[in-house]
Amino acid sequence: MSRLKVAVLISGRGSNLRALLDACAETGFPAEIVLVVSNKPDAGGLAHAEAAGLPAVVVDHRDFPDKPSFEAAMETELHRTGAELVCLAGFMRLLTPGFVERWRDRLINIHPSLLPAFKGLDTHARAIAAGVRISGCTVHYVRSEMDTGPIILQVVVPVLNGDDADALAARVLAAEHRCYPAALRLIAEGRVQVDGERVIIDGPPASGVMSSPPT
Ligand code: GRF
Repeated sequence: MSRLKVAVLISGRGSNLRALLDACAETGFPAEIVLVVSNKPDAGGLAHAEAAGLPAVVVDHRDFPDKPSFEAAMETELHRTGAELVCLAGFMRLLTPGFVERWRDRLINIHPSLLPAFKGLDTHARAIAAGVRISGCTVHYVRSEMDTGPIILQVVVPVLNGDDADALAARVLAAEHRCYPAALRLIAEGRVQVDGERVIIDGPPASGVMSSPPT
């Protein structure tokens, strides 16, 4: 069976990239990573790609006069490698509506909150300040408006007494590393359908991705 060809776009440390690489290395996993693109030459995540023997390409946004030409350079790489799905994993550039439309329903992102709550940056500090008892992460299809789009999978974690933003971030990050591979698996198995603003998952929900609240 042929595996879904995936490109991962990063800007930083790449721990989610690493989680996706580890998943794709498992026997029978239905996706393979064919390309890693970083817009930053010093992104720590590039080392994960190298360690996995994967082609990693730096497309530095500062080398281009505008966003469309930067994105065109990335798309040249995407087409060259035959990428069928693009995963944003800590990719810190907003994409143009043109790019988002061209990759509609083939472009996903992970965000460190339970969307639609806490879009944008500093999610953990804001979640703590708001006093929420649960937080988590969301994998969603990308739409032009930041941190919107049909939600594929979410993993919940508790917010505990005494948490600061770093403690909550670490708990959410561990959840991200389960959530992103699980979402990728569902897509690659052909079990995910977009229906308007919602996602319909065919068959039983992904197992092993939901965290329990504290007892
Ligand atoms: C993650 O928290 C992800 O949800 C957000 O950016 C962070 C990237 O972390 N979009 P890493 O580079 O994958 O370690």
